[in-house]
Formats: sequence, structure tokens, C-alpha cells
Amino acid sequence: MSDPVLTSTRMNGAGRTAVVTGASSGIGEAYARRLAAVRLCHAALTGMVARGRGSLVNVSSVAAFGQSPGNAGYCATKAWMNSFTEGLHLDLAAVGSPVKVQALCPGYTLTEFHDASGIGRDHVPASWWMSAEDVVDASLRGLEQGKPVVVPGWRYKFYVFLLKALPGVLVRSLALRTQGKYRR
Ligand SMILES: NC(=O)c1ccc[n+]([C@@H]2O[C@H](COP(=O)([O-])OP(=O)(O)OC[C@H]3O[C@@H](n4cnc5c(N)ncnc54)[C@H](OP(=O)(O)O)[C@@H]3O)[C@@H](O)[C@H]2O)c1
Repeated sequence: MSDPVLTSTRMNGAGRTAVVTGASSGIGEAYARRLAAVRLCHAALTGMVARGRGSLVNVSSVAAFGQSPGNAGYCATKAWMNSFTEGLHLDLAAVGSPVKVQALCPGYTLTEFHDASGIGRDHVPASWWMSAEDVVDASLRGLEQGKPVVVPGWRYKFYVFLLKALPGVLVRSLALRTQGKYRR
């Protein structure tokens, strides 16, 4: 398999856009993230489709499957990233291209993300952290299996299952009760 291209809608400060408090409208950031992702995907996929090979991984998040207080922009952008990537997957299938795309949706992963954003790691139980290596392994397995959306780790698979299965009113109530504890 050729090396996958990884793009990321890099969120400084984990995308806490402060829309409600008025500190930031979040409009510029939200627009820039989507524009960057579209441009990167276009640049990478054009060549891959012409060559008839290649893989592209968009780094999304489990945040794509729900909402949490203070993360309106982050969750919405990640949900958009999943939808956009699934659309690309369909577009490629429609033209019979072997090029693969994937939205990779990790949970808490040991990278520099939480240091750089100042969020820290202490508020998250140790068992919920995954290594970057395990996340990448899951992504590569998903690429081989042709999965357009990959959630690494059984805990996060179950978490996403619950987010989809439980009534929205209950999910939102839980998000309010745990606010500040488990920021992504
Ligand atoms: N870590 C987690 O727990 C977690 C969970 C879910 C989703 N994610 C998602 O994973 C993605 C990557 O996060 P990470 O955990 O790998 O964070 P990270 O360790 O902080 O790495 C971010 C990478 O993005 C690069 N970067 C930062 N700003 C950039 C810019 N303006 N232009 C180009 N490159 C830039 C950084 O380069 P430099 O080193 O040169 O700054 C670094 O290589 C993000 O989209 C995040 O939302 C992370």
C-alpha cells in the first residue's frame, strides 16, 4: 500500500471557540479549517486519482459524533470532516477509483495536542488514553478494509455506539453533567 497522506483540521486550543461568551465568533477559524481541508484533499486526490493509487486520511475525532459545552466549533468541524470524507469515498467509488479515503476518529491520544492547547491530561483516566501507534495501526487496518470512517479502540467504539443509540436529550444532559471533565 502506498503511504497515506494525513491531513488534519488542526485545532489550536482544541477549538474552544467561545462563541457564546463573545470572546470569538469562531467564523474565521471554522471557515479556514474547512477551506484548508478541501484544498488539501483536492491537491492530494487529483494526483492520486490520475495515478490510480494512493490513500488519504483526514484526522477527525470522536467529537464528530456528539457535542459538548464550549466545543461547538470543534464538534461541528469534525462532523463536517466525517461527512466530507464519506462523500469523497462515494465519489471515488462512483468513478471506479482504487484511491482510498478515511476519516480517522480517535479519542484521547498521547500526542502534543493537550500540552500545546494547555488543556493538560490529568482530567482524563489513564485507561482512556491511546498511544499514537495504536491509533495509526487502527487507521492502516481500516484502510486495508476500505472503511471510510475508523474509530480506534473498543472503548471509543462503544462510546460512539452509545452516542448514536441513546436519545439526544439524554446525550446532551450527560454532556452538560461532565462538562469540563473530559474535554477533547
Ligand atoms: N490528541 C488527541 O487526543 C486527539 C483526539 C482526537 C482528535 N485529535 C485530532 O488530531 C489532529 C492532530 O492532533 P495531534 O494530537 O496529532 O496534535 P499535535 O501532536 O499537537 O500535532 C499537531 C501537528 O499539526 C501541526 N500543525 C500545527 N499547526 C499547524 C499549522 N498552522 N499548519 C500546519 N501544521 C500545523 C504541528 O506541527 P508542529 O509540530 O510543527 O507545530 C503538528 O505536527 C487534530 O485535528 C486533533 O483535532 C487529537
